[in-house]
Amino acid sequence: MPDCPLLIESAVKIYSARRVLDSLSLRVERGDFLAVMGPSGSGKSTLLHAAAGLIGLDAGHVQVDGVELAELGDAALSRLRRTKIALIFQSFNLISNLTVEENMLLPLLAGNAAPDTARCRALAEKLGIADKLTSYPLSLSGGEQQRAAIGRALLPEPALILADEPTGSLDSAAGQEFCKLLRTLCDEERRTIVMVTHEPAVALAANRVLILRDGAFAGEIATTKGLSINMLSSEYHRILEQGK
Ligand SMILES: Nc1ncnc2c1ncn2[C@@H]1O[C@H](COP(=O)(O)OP(=O)(O)O)[C@@H](O)[C@H]1O
Ligand SMILES: [Mg+2]
Repeated sequence: MPDCPLLIESAVKIYSARRVLDSLSLRVERGDFLAVMGPSGSGKSTLLHAAAGLIGLDAGHVQVDGVELAELGDAALSRLRRTKIALIFQSFNLISNLTVEENMLLPLLAGNAAPDTARCRALAEKLGIADKLTSYPLSLSGGEQQRAAIGRALLPEPALILADEPTGSLDSAAGQEFCKLLRTLCDEERRTIVMVTHEPAVALAANRVLILRDGAFAGEIATTKGLSINMLSSEYHRILEQGK
């Protein structure tokens, strides 16, 4: 059986009698880097929240690293979320009165694991924020704060990285740097990444792009290889328009 960090089968989520996820299925193999695009309100964040076990489904299944989320109790689910899933948001959610290093180590402490400062340092080196470890988050640039947030998320060695508009509060240069970093994590460490974005320039960093419309898949750009930003953007709009 192939290594499958994320498997979603026929996911249905209903809010106010509306199918916000409408029988979505998705399989993400280890080392894949998937972008999810779609208009505002198409269910992108809901899909990520379901993948992260932050919300339950009304029907269907989510498996993370072979574990069915619905079968876990509260304690087991929060342990799985802490150890297997890295969640990155547009807002960095760093704690401002802790240093960057303390922020990065915090999830390990919460799980009663010994704080591995050597590994924290090595990771900070890789992320380009080694000289910021003793600084406080608010003294860092947005791009550096997002690097610290991904460092915090990666330290427990998660099977899956889920990112919701991770470049949404970065300027375009910092956003491109961040995309390059995700690309490197995928290429060099075989990290598995699912990233929601509405920016074609950001989606270009992924291997492939799934396009959501009204909670269902409208289509897929199977590979971003050889595409320019403009080509990806027009392919995205073409897929959204067809079958409407
Ligand atoms: N907790 C919630 N309660 C009620 N409706 C929600 C909730 N979360 C999302 N929705 C609705 O579900 C739809 C999809 O939302 P979302 O997944 O956030 O879209 P996207 O991230 O693609 O912009 C929207 O219409 C939104 O208003
Ligand atoms: Mg959203």
